[in-house]
Amino acid sequence: MGIIGIRTATLLLAALAWRSVLVAAAGEADGVFNVKDYGARGDGTTDDTKVMGTITAPPPGAWSGQKYWMMFYQVQGLTVTGGSTGLLDGRGRSWWWSDQCNRYGDIYKAPTALVVMNCTDVELSKFSSKNSPQMHIAVSQSSKVHLTQLTTTAPWDSPNTDGVHIDQSEDVRVTRSTMGTGGECVSIGPGSRFVTVDGIVCGPGRAVSVGSLGKKGATESVEYIDVKNVQFINTSSGARIKTWQGGKGYARSISFTNINFTNVDNPVVINQFYADPYHIPNMGAVAVSNITYTNLKGTSRYRTAVEFVCSESGSCTNIHVNSVAITFPYGEALALCQNAQGDTSGYVYPKIPCLR
Ligand SMILES: *[C@@H]1O[C@H](CO)[C@@H](O)[C@H](O)[C@H]1NC(C)=O
Ligand SMILES: *[C@@H]1O[C@H](CO)[C@@H](O)[C@H](O)[C@H]1NC(C)=O
Ligand SMILES: *[C@@H]1O[C@H](CO)[C@@H](O)[C@H](O)[C@H]1NC(C)=O
Ligand SMILES: *[C@@H]1O[C@H](CO)[C@@H](O)[C@H](O)[C@H]1NC(C)=O
Repeated sequence: MGIIGIRTATLLLAALAWRSVLVAAAGEADGVFNVKDYGARGDGTTDDTKVMGTITAPPPGAWSGQKYWMMFYQVQGLTVTGGSTGLLDGRGRSWWWSDQCNRYGDIYKAPTALVVMNCTDVELSKFSSKNSPQMHIAVSQSSKVHLTQLTTTAPWDSPNTDGVHIDQSEDVRVTRSTMGTGGECVSIGPGSRFVTVDGIVCGPGRAVSVGSLGKKGATESVEYIDVKNVQFINTSSGARIKTWQGGKGYARSISFTNINFTNVDNPVVINQFYADPYHIPNMGAVAVSNITYTNLKGTSRYRTAVEFVCSESGSCTNIHVNSVAITFPYGEALALCQNAQGDTSGYVYPKIPCLR
C-alpha cells in the first residue's frame, strides 16, 4: 500500500511521473510516499510532471490484508496525468484465484489499486491501469472528480476488477475511457449523486451499473446519473440498475442516452431482486423511479433484450423508454416486464408489455 501523502491545496502532481518504477510497500517504512521526497515541489506553479513511467505493485505477500494499493486522501486540487503512457500494473493475477479471495460475498479480500478518498477537485487522466487485484479505481466520499482518457484492462474472468467504482460522492465525471475487465466498467454505488459517464467503450466485463443498493435492508440512495455515448461489446449486461429486496432508499433520475450494444447478454436491466435466489413477498424495495432510456440500439446475445424485474410493492415508476432497437440475431427479441410503470415513445423493439 502506498498513500501519497500530500495535503497541500492546488498541488499539481503527476503520480505516474515523479520517478517511475517499483513502488514496494515492503521497501518503505510505513508505506507512505511523499512525492516531495521525489523531487515534486507542490507550490502550485512548478510542473511536477517530468518523468513518465510505470508503477508496479509489489507481490501479494508484501501487502496482503491491505484494502488498497494507493490512495489519495483528503487532497483538494490534484491533477494526475500519465501523459498517455503512464501505467499502473497491479499484478493481480496471483490474487484472483488464490485461497484468500472469494469472488462471492464479503470475504473477498483483494485490494483496490487506486482509491480517491475524501478529496475535492481531482482530475485523473491519460493513464492505464491493468490487472488490478480487485477494483482499478474507487472514488469515495469525494466531490468534483473527473476521470478522463483512462484505460483499464484485466481478463474477463478476473473477479470484481471493476474499472471505476463510485460511492458517497458527487459531481463525478468519467469520460472518454476504455474499460475491459472482469467486473463492472463503471459501478455507481450508494451515495452517488450527479454522476456523468460519457464516451465509454466497455467490454469485456459486466455493465455500467447503478447499485447494488439496499443489501441486508440498508437504506441507500443514488440520484441524477447521466450515462451517455457508451458502446458495450461482449458484456454480460449494459444499462443496469440493481437493488436488493428488502432495501430502503431510492435510485432515481437516471438516464441512459445514445447507447449501443454488440453481443451483450442482457442489454437493459432493472432488477429489484438482485442476487437473491428467492423472492420473499412484501419485503419492500429500494424505490426505482424517473429512469429514462433514449436511443438504444444493437444486438442482444440472449433473447431477452430488456428485463424490468420489479417488486410487487409498486416502487418501480416513471420508467420512460424512447427509441430502442435491440435485436436478437437468431429470432424474436423479448422484453420481460414485471411490475414496472411508465411509458414508451418512438420506435421501441422489443415491445415492452407493461409500459404504456
Ligand atoms: C474529510 O475531510 C474533511 C475536511 O476536508 C474532514 O472534516 C472529514 O473528517 C474527512 N472525513 C474523513 C472520513 O476522513
Ligand atoms: C456506438 O457508439 C459509439 C459511441 O457513442 C459510436 O462512436 C459508434 O459509432 C456507435 N456504433 C454504432 C454501430 O452505432
Ligand atoms: C466478442 O465475442 C465474439 C464471440 O462471441 C468474438 O468473436 C469477438 O472477437 C469478441 N469481440 C471483442 C471485441 O472482444
Ligand atoms: C427526472 O430525471 C431527469 C434526469 O434524467 C431530471 O433532469 C429530472 O429533473 C427528473 N425529474 C423529476 C420529476 O425528478
